[in-house]
Amino acid sequence: MIIARTRDDLNQTLQKFTQKPGKLALIPTMGNLHSGHLSLVRLAKLNAKKTITTIFVNPLQFGKNEDFEKYPRSEEIDINKLRKEKCDILFIPINRHEVFPKFEEVKKIESGKLGNELCGKIRPGHFDGVLTVVNKIFDMIKPDIAIFGAKDYQQQILISEMSKILHPYLTILKAPIIRSKNGVALSSRNNYLSEKEMNLASNLFKCLENSVKLYNDNVLLNEIIENAQKFLISKKLNPDYFELRDNKLNNINENHFNGKKSFFKFCYIK
Ligand code: PAF
Repeated sequence: MIIARTRDDLNQTLQKFTQKPGKLALIPTMGNLHSGHLSLVRLAKLNAKKTITTIFVNPLQFGKNEDFEKYPRSEEIDINKLRKEKCDILFIPINRHEVFPKFEEVKKIESGKLGNELCGKIRPGHFDGVLTVVNKIFDMIKPDIAIFGAKDYQQQILISEMSKILHPYLTILKAPIIRSKNGVALSSRNNYLSEKEMNLASNLFKCLENSVKLYNDNVLLNEIIENAQKFLISKKLNPDYFELRDNKLNNINENHFNGKKSFFKFCYIK
């Protein structure tokens, strides 16, 4: 695996690689790689000849009081994991200027209405920061395919929408959530949770599963939401939101409910 630390390294490496025929698939990450990320690398290898992973903890997507400083960084371990998966290139910039040469002057992409709902309501500016860095990385690497996991479903939708406009020739592949045995979605931030908290978090998955069951049994939407909230509070989990949305994250109401069954469940707990 070739490791590029600067823009110049990256450009030189890409030049060499793109001389040979075959598609290039990109997996953008913030590192601290787990089996969820590695499943994206495997999917990339199935769909393209060459794979590139990026590891960049993007300051633009963290709010003032969020965990940018303490976000888990595990460079050496990540490199070994990617080598094992036979990823071809890793871009892991030495500093933010290798991605944003004029960091202070970056003009952010606005994530619009959806970017300010759900998780965006709790984390103002977060999705603007995500779209800005992802767009930048797409511009720098010009991949044929880019892969994002469904754990960050709202992010996946927003990136797809942005790409349709700014990168129309890029294929966005959507990969499924990878969960631990107790149902908790794998996430780099799970490192913050004790064993007890991980067990507690598994109630979130139980709640989502149960909501789907109620939905399939034609229970009214309000009742599903009330039921979910009661269950979570009984487990001492206090959701920032629990909403029912369709698979494009549009609001759904009882009219939709009686028609097409496009259902997506979404829940986020700080
Ligand atoms: O999902 C992530 O890890 C990040 O939001 C991403 C897409 C790499 C952008 O920094």
